[in-house]
Amino acid sequence: MIGEYILGNNAKIAKHVSIARGAIIGNNVNLGKNVTIGYGAIIGDNVVIRANAQIDAHVKIDRYSKVGYGSHLFPNVFVDPKCIIGNNVAMYHFSNVAKGTILEDNVFLGTRVTIVNTRRISHGRNFPVSVRGPLIKWGARIGANATILPDIVIETECLIGAGAVVTKSTRAKWIYYGNPARAIKPVPKEELYDIP
Ligand SMILES: CC(C)(COP(=O)(O)OP(=O)(O)OC[C@H]1O[C@@H](n2cnc3c(N)ncnc32)[C@H](O)[C@@H]1OP(=O)(O)O)[C@@H](O)C(=O)NCCC(=O)NCCS
Repeated sequence: MIGEYILGNNAKIAKHVSIARGAIIGNNVNLGKNVTIGYGAIIGDNVVIRANAQIDAHVKIDRYSKVGYGSHLFPNVFVDPKCIIGNNVAMYHFSNVAKGTILEDNVFLGTRVTIVNTRRISHGRNFPVSVRGPLIKWGARIGANATILPDIVIETECLIGAGAVVTKSTRAKWIYYGNPARAIKPVPKEELYDIP
């Protein structure tokens, strides 16, 4: 461990964890072996981060979220409460996932990807708003600045183009882009994981 940081109660910290100066680690946090926590990162209460995950500077992971084995959250990523981030996930700078989002294993989010969980914006008005985080399935890749609307399933190994606004669920292994995003063509075979 390096530098000064704040550590809550009942933290479970495995061997070879490194926590940088200025980080704030909440109560009941569980950090697996070799996890690194960057400068000024904020890890909320009851967060679980599995072995070999890398959490860079100024990342915020809110309460009850989970980050899988070997995932890498680049600087300034925001993860809202109760999100599940799978194994070997990459979230590039400033990407932001809303409460309840699930990213399955091997998902890639480019810089400034935004995933939201409410379609209607109440902002103090008196009407019901449903909150449903999207599901981003195994191996999907989402280009920079794309926005994913609530309650959507991005299917396995889809590729979402930069700047897309995805308003409907997608079909597996297809490329989508535009606003609203449209199915363009299948992902080239050589870009798919080598799994039948
Ligand atoms: C979606 C994508 C994979 C398509 O790549 P491609 O199949 O090689 O597409 P091309 O470059 O041949 O472009 C084909 C057409 O689609 C358009 N197009 C390509 N990407 C687009 C996008 N994201 N949004 C809107 N139009 C797009 C091109 O302008 C071109 O239009 P035209 O036929 O009228 O000239 C790619 O453009 C993309 O957006 N990649 C994401 C990059 C990224 O965000 N990386 C992460 C960095 S952190």
